[in-house]
Amino acid sequence: MKAQLEISSLSKAFGGNAVLDRVDLEVAACAVSAVIGPNGAGKTTLFNAISGFVPPDRGQITLEGVELVGMPPHRIAELGVGRTFQNLRLFPRLTVLENVLVALDRTERRQSRRRRQVQARALLERAGVSASPDTFASDLSFAEQKFVSLARALACGHRILLLDEPGSGLDPPSLERMYALVRSLAAEGRTILLIEHNLDVVRELAERVVFLDRGRALARGTPAQVFASPEAANSYFGGEPEP
Ligand SMILES: Nc1ncnc2c1ncn2[C@@H]1O[C@H](COP(=O)(O)OP(=O)(O)O)[C@@H](O)[C@H]1O
Ligand SMILES: [Mg+2]
Repeated sequence: MKAQLEISSLSKAFGGNAVLDRVDLEVAACAVSAVIGPNGAGKTTLFNAISGFVPPDRGQITLEGVELVGMPPHRIAELGVGRTFQNLRLFPRLTVLENVLVALDRTERRQSRRRRQVQARALLERAGVSASPDTFASDLSFAEQKFVSLARALACGHRILLLDEPGSGLDPPSLERMYALVRSLAAEGRTILLIEHNLDVVRELAERVVFLDRGRALARGTPAQVFASPEAANSYFGGEPEP
């Protein structure tokens, strides 16, 4: 399987504290991959480096052979890399529809406003948002806000989506909705890299997993392989590898 996104020997320190330490990662095209690891392992920093928000100290990040390190975030987004945020970052005083239109106004400038509204409604439906498009984002439950943030990410049309903890704060029915959406995105040819705390989500969605601990990629493979590795077992299962 050819890697679409290749990260090699990526390092980043904040104030002398190594947050990413020579991380290697290959992300396969049109599949779901996951980064797991304890709090503070460097997972979000890895996403920040890929999307250009945090300049790494050393190492390479290439997208289909093109070096991303040194590019500003908007340029990396233009090349097809999109992301969601752990804290969602919706505009609270805009409506659900407006939150998606903000993205479409940038990507679909040539379309009429009417056409963009139709598109935004279709994306909200696709993301499974059940709230009225006229609701203020701040009035939604966290789970509904999360689906709006996914609809907004879809509006950007990115080929590669970095999802930071898509399962957090979701109840079991919402988790099922999120699984279906992420699977359909991969099936239509998008590449998904997600960060997740909830190992059930990883088991459900990911084909490949990398385990990050204190900035180092300590184990990689299928979910079953990584969960059974002594490195991850220590962190997640109190030292006992999962049966
Ligand atoms: N901009 C920053 N400045 C200083 N320290 C940071 C910054 N971003 C992250 N860190 C530190 O880097 C470590 C890893 O953080 P993070 O990547 O958010 O971990 P994770 O997402 O795995 O929980 C933490 O100790 C965090 O405090
Ligand atoms: Mg994080």
